[in-house]
Amino acid sequence: MSTAISPTAYNYKVVRQFAIMTVVWGILGMGLGVFIASQLVWPELNFGLPWTTFGRLRPLHTNLVIFAFGGCALFATSYYVVQRTCQTRLISDSLAAFHFWGWQAVIIGAIVTLPLGYTTTKEYAELEWPLAILLAIVWVVYGLVFFGTIVKRKTKHIYVGNWFYGAFIVVTAMLHIVNHMSLPVSLFKSYSAYSGATDAMIQWWYGHNAVGFFLTTGFLGMMYYFVPKQAERPIYSYRLSIVHFWALITLYIWAGPHHLHYTALPDWAQSLGMAMSIILLAPSWGGMINGMMTLSGAWHKLRTDPILRFLVVSLAFYGMSTFEGPMMAIKTVNSLSHYTDWTIGHVHAGALGWVAMISIGAIYHMIPKLFGRAQMHSIGLINTHFWLATIGTVLYIASMWVNGITQGLMWRAINDDGTLTYSFVEALQASHPGFIVRALGGAFFASGMLFMAYNVFRTVRASNPVEAEAAAQIAVVGAH
Ligand code: HEM
Ligand code: HEM
Repeated sequence: MSTAISPTAYNYKVVRQFAIMTVVWGILGMGLGVFIASQLVWPELNFGLPWTTFGRLRPLHTNLVIFAFGGCALFATSYYVVQRTCQTRLISDSLAAFHFWGWQAVIIGAIVTLPLGYTTTKEYAELEWPLAILLAIVWVVYGLVFFGTIVKRKTKHIYVGNWFYGAFIVVTAMLHIVNHMSLPVSLFKSYSAYSGATDAMIQWWYGHNAVGFFLTTGFLGMMYYFVPKQAERPIYSYRLSIVHFWALITLYIWAGPHHLHYTALPDWAQSLGMAMSIILLAPSWGGMINGMMTLSGAWHKLRTDPILRFLVVSLAFYGMSTFEGPMMAIKTVNSLSHYTDWTIGHVHAGALGWVAMISIGAIYHMIPKLFGRAQMHSIGLINTHFWLATIGTVLYIASMWVNGITQGLMWRAINDDGTLTYSFVEALQASHPGFIVRALGGAFFASGMLFMAYNVFRTVRASNPVEAEAAAQIAVVGAH
């Protein structure tokens, strides 16, 4: 191991920037989530204006939480992990800065254009072509910086966390470019290059793998670094992590058709999607068990370490949502769950329980190290945040299960004479209590983010730039 302390150790600046913006976008995206959840309880909150309707703010919520909050968390952690595990600085500070500012520009573009109604109408790919092109350019730069850093690494092997981050970068680029193929007819209007069932299949090949590679594979990269680090234990099985990696990336890509059950998509494609989704349970749980077992001999730390609690509970929710997903992919189950709040509950078990919780844990782990502090300003506040997030997630998903199954059963109930037992409005009325509980759960989760912002602010304000730089340098000497 090298003992030289380089004056230009790691580029922590871009990591700090992305880490802070994770918190900022988390508050805005989740705050907007609470707002649209409230619109479903009190429709007056649509204000009768086109820009503030649920239909326009919902895609803004998904873009802010997935790409702004989730994206910044992935960029902050991947740049942190790749530098520390490769024991080298990012290949280019200016390209990293371009990545940071370019990404923020895409998000601002989303905040402006989506409420104005500019959209491709493809879910999770709503941004019109000028923004989609900017996003592609920024992404390629990200890939260059990440893989370039791996190429000039000082360590012999490539730590498994980087494999997951690498797959996330390559596959997201592929999905984004293929799904966004379109013909622009004006500055803010384009038509998809595909039509009919082909368009739907490509969209859900994209949509599902956005879940698989953006909301899962990238965050698994995070898991493989931060769980062992925070538990101060090596990963339970390095061999299992390699099997996990190859099995996950081989299988995920085939599961998209489960979003198109009972549609014009050929039946064999639907069945293939269903079968692949069920098989997907195995690598998903393999990864979850690998993370959980890393705590062998360190379980007692959960009593005193709320950061570790965030990380472990996120794995529990990952296990839960990757059990639920394969079940929902079975056609007969999907005939009940599709179009209902059950899907929304499943989404947020993954989004709040897994994606948000692991990100929050990772950010709490990094912030003191990035700003030259021994630990966060207040461990008690992290604990408060943990309970708000956990209770909020449980309220959210439990209410959506009740709503989803109620809706599914009410929609399919038929009288003896073949007419529908319930009107749509009756099912909506039955959903109202669940909508209230969901908004409450969301408010719990989002208020936890405010505690986080305060805690991060106090930690940063008390930071010592000289010590922070020293930490960045000593880290090169110490073990990753
Ligand atoms: C083995 C793993 C998983 C499988 C097989 C799976 C399967 C499914 C199925 C069958 C649906 C419902 C499709 C429909 O009826 O329209 C669905 C929806 C969804 N899942 Fe999963 N899921 C898995 C894990 C996850 C995870 C971990 C997350 C989040 C981090 C997630 C996020 C989503 C999202 C966002 C949707 C909604 C898509 C939409 O209609 O807009 N899934 N998933
Ligand atoms: C305070 C937290 C949150 C609240 C209150 C909230 C609320 C909502 C609401 C009300 C919807 C629309 C549901 C519908 O159309 O019936 C929604 C959709 C969605 N949210 Fe959230 N959300 C929150 C956090 C998140 C996070 C952190 C993520 C991702 C990391 C996320 C991802 C999504 C996705 C992917 C959808 C679309 C689901 C689909 O089409 O099936 N949300 N959210």
